[in-house]
Amino acid sequence: MSTERRQAHWERIYTGKGEMEVSWFQETPALSMALIALIGATRRSPVIDIGGGASRLVDSLISQAYEDVTVLDLSPTALVAAKRRLGDKAKQVTWIVADVTTWEPSRFYDVWHDRATFHFLTDPAEQAAYVDRLRRALRRGGHAIIGTFAPDGPEQCSGLPVVRHNADRLRAILGEEFRLVDTRRHEHVTPSGATQRFQFSTFHRVE
Ligand SMILES: C[S@@+](CC[C@H](N)C(=O)[O-])C[C@H]1O[C@@H](n2cnc3c(N)ncnc32)[C@H](O)[C@@H]1O
Repeated sequence: MSTERRQAHWERIYTGKGEMEVSWFQETPALSMALIALIGATRRSPVIDIGGGASRLVDSLISQAYEDVTVLDLSPTALVAAKRRLGDKAKQVTWIVADVTTWEPSRFYDVWHDRATFHFLTDPAEQAAYVDRLRRALRRGGHAIIGTFAPDGPEQCSGLPVVRHNADRLRAILGEEFRLVDTRRHEHVTPSGATQRFQFSTFHRVE
């Protein structure tokens, strides 16, 4: 799918629904914060949330005094919602409007976090473009935490098809440079009460 079509889709979603009405809304990103702590990230570790949208992960990171936080998403409306919610604290964050598959990273991060973005890339060429950006943006020794729908999770989200993954499949896509250090299943309960099965896998980029 082209960046334009993808962006138009997500803009339509975020202009049509409030932050707390989308199926992926979570009040507290407890698992993501736990996984970020588990890899030994410090308050100084640069963290990027890929496809962060209006997620509250950024609020949790700022409230725990993480000093170098970036949120990337292709929907400007989603980022505006997050900035409004954060108020003055939004100035502490770097906001990037970009399609991760065409983004040109200009620096390195220690932590790459992605909850429910990679699984929208259904074409192997788009997945390869994502991995290319991951390689260009994650420093050697850094960690990538990637949460996707699990093999027994939903087949689509917000009207788009997804590819469901498990850790082995992700490892094969990321390549040998990335060592799997943790994988776990997670059940997300949507605002309407449905349960969605996710997997979260953490990879260490070898030095
Ligand atoms: C299901 S939402 C998850 C949002 C957020 N990660 C969370 O956990 O609340 C998927 C997000 O990925 C963004 N997105 C989808 N494809 C993208 C792409 N190719 N590049 C950047 N962002 C993308 C969407 O705009 C949306 O905010």
